[in-house]
Parts: sequence; structure tokens; C-alpha cells
Amino acid sequence: MLWRKKAGSNRRSTGANGKRKRLLPKICLAFLIGALFGLLFLTGGRPEPQEIPADDQHRPFLEALTKGEVRLQVEKRCPSCHGPQGTPLSADHPLPEQCLLCHPAK
Ligand code: HEC
Ligand code: HEC
Repeated sequence: MLWRKKAGSNRRSTGANGKRKRLLPKICLAFLIGALFGLLFLTGGRPEPQEIPADDQHRPFLEALTKGEVRLQVEKRCPSCHGPQGTPLSADHPLPEQCLLCHPAK
């Protein structure tokens, strides 16, 4: 970090061209730091999706999956309970479709 500052201050006398050159590594660094914080923000603190319980409500789905039924067809029936009626998803539930992408079947 220190060497970078020194090199910059030495080149300050080279004028506009030199200034533009020194800006690039700074932009790269800012971008990297921003990306890192963005990643932390997106992934950190979010709870893991629960496994689908192996109870009577869900056994038909799990059996359909092991029989090789297409995932997109199976999960179409989830909202019949996890919809406005039944046991609705919480307000901050992400993306209420393609359930089985996130919720693993036991
Ligand atoms: C027949 C109604 C019904 C259907 C259809 C149904 N569920 Fe459920 N589901 C429930 C009930 C009731 C609970 C709460 C039971 C419990 O907490 O043990 C539950 C709980 C869950 C949970 C666990 C929530 C927790 O807090 O642990 C997940 C995950 C889930 N369901 C996903 C699904 C998915 C994915 C499908 C479609 C493949 C589906 N459900 C279809 C009734 C249903
Ligand atoms: C993008 C990933 C993702 C998809 C797709 C998804 N879920 Fe979830 N689900 C989660 C996460 C993460 C949680 C935990 C949320 C929490 O604990 O606050 C969760 C929680 C739940 C719960 C527990 C109650 C609640 O709302 O927190 C149920 C029931 C559930 N999901 C059912 C479903 C059903 C049914 C579908 C399809 C219609 C579905 N999920 C699609 C990620 C997903």
C-alpha cells in the first residue's frame, strides 16, 4: 500500500496523463472491495432453506420424486397448501416458485 502512494506522489509532476494512469488501480481496488462487501451482504445472515419434512403431507411429493417424476411438475402442487390458504410462506420468503431448487428432499 505504501509503495503505491509513494510511486503516485513521485509521478505527480508528470501531468494529466500520469494522473489518469494512477486512477485505474484505485478504481480496480474500489471495485474489488465493493464486490466483496456485496457478496457478504447477499450471502451472510440469510437462513438456510429447510428440508422438506418427511411427513404425511409431503410423502406423496417425495415418492413422486424418487419415482422419477419431473421436478417442475411435482413442485407445481406445493402452493395448494403453501399458498394464500393453508400454511402460507412468510412475507420475506424468497422467490415462491421452483421450491425444490432450494428445499432439498430428504
Ligand atoms: C397437503 C398440504 C401441503 C402440501 C401439498 C405441501 N406442504 Fe409443505 N408443509 C405443510 C404443512 C402443514 C407444514 C408445516 C408442518 C410442520 O411444520 O411440521 C409444511 C412444512 C413445510 C416445510 C418446512 C417448514 C419448516 O418450518 O420447517 C417445507 C420446506 C415445505 N413444507 C415445503 C413444501 C414443498 C417444497 C412442497 C411441494 C413439494 C410442499 N411443502 C407441499 C403442508 C403442505
Ligand atoms: C430461492 C430459494 C427458495 C425457493 C425457490 C423456495 N424457498 Fe422456501 N425457503 C427458502 C428459505 C431461505 C427459507 C427460510 C426463510 C426463513 O427462515 O426466514 C424458506 C422457508 C420456507 C418455509 C418455512 C416458512 C417460511 O415461509 O419461512 C416453507 C414452508 C417454504 N419455504 C416452502 C417453499 C415452497 C412451497 C416453495 C415453492 C413454492 C419454496 N419454499 C421455494 C428458500 C426458498
